[in-house]
Amino acid sequence: MENGFKQFSLKGKVSLVTGGARGIGLGIARALAGAGADVMIASRTEAQLKAAAASIYEACGRNVGTFCTDVSDLSGHAAMVEATLQRFGRIDVLVNNAGSNIRKPFLEVDEADYDTIMQIQLKSVFFLSQRVAKILKAAGGGKLINVSSLTSQIGVPNISIYGAAKGGVFSLTKSLALELAPYHINVNAVAPGYVRTAMTEAAFSDPKRLEWMLSRIPLGRFGQPEDIANAVLYLASPAADYLTGEVIVIDGGWLSA
Ligand SMILES: NC(=O)c1ccc[n+]([C@@H]2O[C@H](COP(=O)([O-])OP(=O)(O)OC[C@H]3O[C@@H](n4cnc5c(N)ncnc54)[C@H](OP(=O)(O)O)[C@@H]3O)[C@@H](O)[C@H]2O)c1
Repeated sequence: MENGFKQFSLKGKVSLVTGGARGIGLGIARALAGAGADVMIASRTEAQLKAAAASIYEACGRNVGTFCTDVSDLSGHAAMVEATLQRFGRIDVLVNNAGSNIRKPFLEVDEADYDTIMQIQLKSVFFLSQRVAKILKAAGGGKLINVSSLTSQIGVPNISIYGAAKGGVFSLTKSLALELAPYHINVNAVAPGYVRTAMTEAAFSDPKRLEWMLSRIPLGRFGQPEDIANAVLYLASPAADYLTGEVIVIDGGWLSA
């Protein structure tokens, strides 16, 4: 990629990817590093961060930075951003990917469940974006990329908080795109369909659910982290400089049916 079409090159750019230690986030970090970016990955599990960094080095020969933090704790954001600036000197791209889910019937959800999911899936996205946008504005521009979900646009039982949070991310992407456009900050999102990761393992382990999910996907297969990462790579690159406020649904055609 580094020697490929230069509109897709991220050489000289610095990306911060939350939740970059496994699953979709690791796929994203690997793609950005493969395109020449310096990448900082953040999550709560030091061992996974180290393993992810080693696997990215093995895949594309680039050293990535790691930062162990709970992204839902806003008091840790300053140190995470500072560590990225200290290590790489700048930030050009923020990927708000970290997330988790609690599967529960709506009638059983309590306030603690609500706060846990909203905090990581929406509140932290809001305030980390704000913090990084100030840096991007001062630098003359950059890219904010959010990870929403197919469930921002369809109803799915037992994940009401998650769906509401991802709907919030969808809407936030549009609002921020307008507010930040004057500063040459592009704000876009990807909305993955079903990708087998630690977060979705329960759904994938249920044969009936698996069959139902697959029956809804015209392309006949589940997503891979790379399917999502490729779209993020595009959004992060100069090739997407004229794109803002867009949410790209990557669902194998589910939503078109
Ligand atoms: N998989 C899907 O089908 C799917 C579909 C639509 C959208 N998404 C979204 O895609 C994103 C990535 O999900 P995934 O499927 O790749 O899940 P995953 O494999 O569970 O990965 C989630 C990543 O986020 C990190 N993380 C979770 N909570 C965190 C916190 N409070 N602070 C810091 N890091 C945290 C995790 O590390 P630690 O737990 O070690 O902190 C991990 O690195 C999420 O936003 C998810 O909602 C996934």
